Amino acid sequence: MKDSLLMLISFFKKPKETGAITISSKYLTNEIIRNIDFKNSRNIIELGPGLGTFTKAILKKANPDAKVVCFEINNKFCNYINKNCADEKLIVINAGAGNIRKKLNKLSIKKVDCIVSGLPFRNFSKAKKEKILAEVKNTLNGNGRFIFFQYTKDISTMLGFYFSNVKKSFVPLNIPPCFVYKCEN
Ligand SMILES: C[S@@+](CC[C@H](N)C(=O)[O-])C[C@H]1O[C@@H](n2cnc3c(N)ncnc32)[C@H](O)[C@@H]1O
Repeated sequence: MKDSLLMLISFFKKPKETGAITISSKYLTNEIIRNIDFKNSRNIIELGPGLGTFTKAILKKANPDAKVVCFEINNKFCNYINKNCADEKLIVINAGAGNIRKKLNKLSIKKVDCIVSGLPFRNFSKAKKEKILAEVKNTLNGNGRFIFFQYTKDISTMLGFYFSNVKKSFVPLNIPPCFVYKCEN
């Protein structure tokens, strides 16, 4: 099945969870990747990788001894990534982003250098957003970065409660156009 079709079908089945009708553009992917400090990152987490658009680009640039751990709630997407992005560095976990700490404990990973997200925060309840942002903050090391995109600016105020440094850029060439956030502790 074509990538775009699998995403579209998932969107029609679970629109709020899937959050997009198509995969992210190369312009958005480049903006996410540009903000990752690959040189100093050994543990990278990706939340909501979907069909692995960012995952492939991350794996290409990650240190050979790095771990890239993906949390994806849709098991069809997990299977797709395991098949199409196979790499020694990659660990795909079929679980929600609210379980980061619990799952990383099992992998004996305490802190991580970077968390990338494609999660559709706008569709989540306030409690769910807070739970995930708290997990993200508690999992990042002192110099760690949280990098993610959103189609609206709704989340901006909430980010201020969790991160002391939040920067935002705009990516017009994506469907739909979106904002990329870079957050630091
Ligand atoms: C907008 S898509 C992003 C896909 C991909 N990162 C991209 O940019 O093309 C959002 C993804 O988040 C996943 N997702 C939604 N809620 C989630 C949750 N609580 N935990 C983990 N993944 C979730 C969906 O299944 C979907 O794959």
